[in-house]
This record gives sequence, structure tokens and C-alpha cells, in this order.
Amino acid sequence: MFVDKEKCKQCGGCYSECPYQLIVEGKDEFPKLRLAAKKTCIACGHCVAICPVQALTLPEMPVTPELTPEQCDKVARDLRVSPEQADQFLMSRRSIRTYKDKLIPRETIEELLSVATFAPSAKNGQPAQWIVTSNPEVTQELVGHTVHYMAINNVFPGVIKNWKKGIDMILHGAPHVAIAHASEDGFHPAEDCSLAAAYLELAAHARGIGACWAGFLMEAAEGCRDLRDRLQIPEGHGVYAALMLGYPKYRYPRIPRRWDAKVRWLD
Ligand SMILES: Cc1cc2nc3c(=O)[nH]c(=O)nc-3n(C[C@H](O)[C@H](O)[C@H](O)COP(=O)(O)O)c2cc1C
Repeated sequence: MFVDKEKCKQCGGCYSECPYQLIVEGKDEFPKLRLAAKKTCIACGHCVAICPVQALTLPEMPVTPELTPEQCDKVARDLRVSPEQADQFLMSRRSIRTYKDKLIPRETIEELLSVATFAPSAKNGQPAQWIVTSNPEVTQELVGHTVHYMAINNVFPGVIKNWKKGIDMILHGAPHVAIAHASEDGFHPAEDCSLAAAYLELAAHARGIGACWAGFLMEAAEGCRDLRDRLQIPEGHGVYAALMLGYPKYRYPRIPRRWDAKVRWLD
């Protein structure tokens, strides 16, 4: 069953919000799923989630199981944040480069990865696949590969010099690194992985966990065979995001300044 006619109030939310207009008004004036849905539905779940009376169930599609209202968490009114809270939360996130010698529990990292799946992705493809280190020695091993790659390519001599002195300028001694890769053949794999990483970073911030993008490691993971092999990056996959993760040693009591937004209004 797609629509429970006893419950449906014919509010039109499901028609209006379906990204591919796969829901139409049937002869009986209730929503009807078009046949094209079998091929075109991207399983975003909007039709089920938007229904205020839980009247819709999205049937099983070739690539997804049935989606019922009960499977969709309620938006809890008492958890809503004010604009001031949201703005402070977003503006107080910082790239963290000094970490405590303390591991993040695996369940907590799993929570972060789970939140990251809610980032927008082209056609709801959610293509990001993650590799996460759980052992600081392995994290440092990845740094070693990155520095070696830099040395071979004769770039960033300062980073190499510091590494020889025991200073890690690649992952800043973070105990973990989370690396997102995806097939290069997707619609927008770089954007999808970057957004997932941004969500992950914000979910970390909410839990008092520090993160920082690891651009050097990302570059090495694109070009360095040894590092790709160690990470077991599949052929045809790009490495589109990498985040150091760990508990921050220091707290920021202030928010630094940023440039004013550059905007040109088109009237
Ligand atoms: C794509 C990307 C790559 C980055 N690579 C590095 C990096 O390799 N090392 C590092 O310390 N910070 C890196 N950063 C963090 C930026 O330096 C940081 O976001 C910026 O200075 C602003 O600071 P904030 O994040 O605390 O606001 C990277 C950020 C992005 C978005």
C-alpha cells in the first residue's frame, strides 16, 4: 500500500516535495505513485517523512526496501535550536591541531558517520565510503607514507624536516583519521564526500571532539601507490575528504574574525 486513504488529509506535501514529481493526484484525489517511480525514485524518503499523519509507505523499489513512517525518526520539537544557538555552534567550530592522547570510542565515531549520511548528496547517492583508523600507530603509519610521498616529489621540505624531528604536520598527532572515498564515476563524488565530511566535523564538534581536514594526506592518497594500497582504495575511486579526529587539548574561548561575505545581488 502506498497511501492509507483513511489517514491522508490530501495536504499535497508529498506531491510538492517529491524531487522527480513521481507522485500525482489519482482520480480519487489521493496521492498516487507513478509507474516511473520504479526506475526514477531516488529513495530520499521525503514523501514518507513529510506526511503529517503517517499515511504514506514507500513500497520496495529495485534498490531499496520498503520505507514506513515508523522507520523515520520524529523531529523532536524540544530539540530545536534557536538561530543564536545554531550560529554560535557553527561559528565556534575550529580546525583542531593539538590532540589529547586519548582514543575516541568506536561507537562515538560510528555515531558521527551515521550523522554524516544525512548530508545532501547528488540524487541521494550517498556515495561516500569511509576508512577510519582506530589505532594511533596506524594513523602515524599513514603520515609516514604521506611524508615519504612528499620527499619523493620534493615538496614541502619544512614538513619533511619536522617529521624527521618527530613533529607531525600532516595529522598533528591526531589519534584517528577518517578518509572518504567514492567512485569517480558518480554525479558529484567530490561534493558528496566533502559535505559528508562537513557533517561529520560538525557532529564531532557537538560532542566536544576535534577535527581538521587533512589536505596533505588527501593529496598523497590520490597519487601515492603505497598509501592507496595500504588504505585499500578501490580502482576508479577518488579520495575526496580526510579528517583528523581526536579530543582537543585546548578550548577556544573566542571566535576568530572572518572576511565579510562577498556577495553581488542580482536584481
Ligand atoms: C580542503 C581542505 C583542506 C585542508 N587541509 C588542511 C591540512 O592539510 N592541514 C591543516 O592543518 N589544515 C587544513 N585545513 C583546515 C584549514 O586550514 C582551516 O579550515 C582554515 O584555516 C580555517 O580555520 P577553521 O576551520 O578553524 O575555521 C584544510 C581545510 C580544507 C577545507
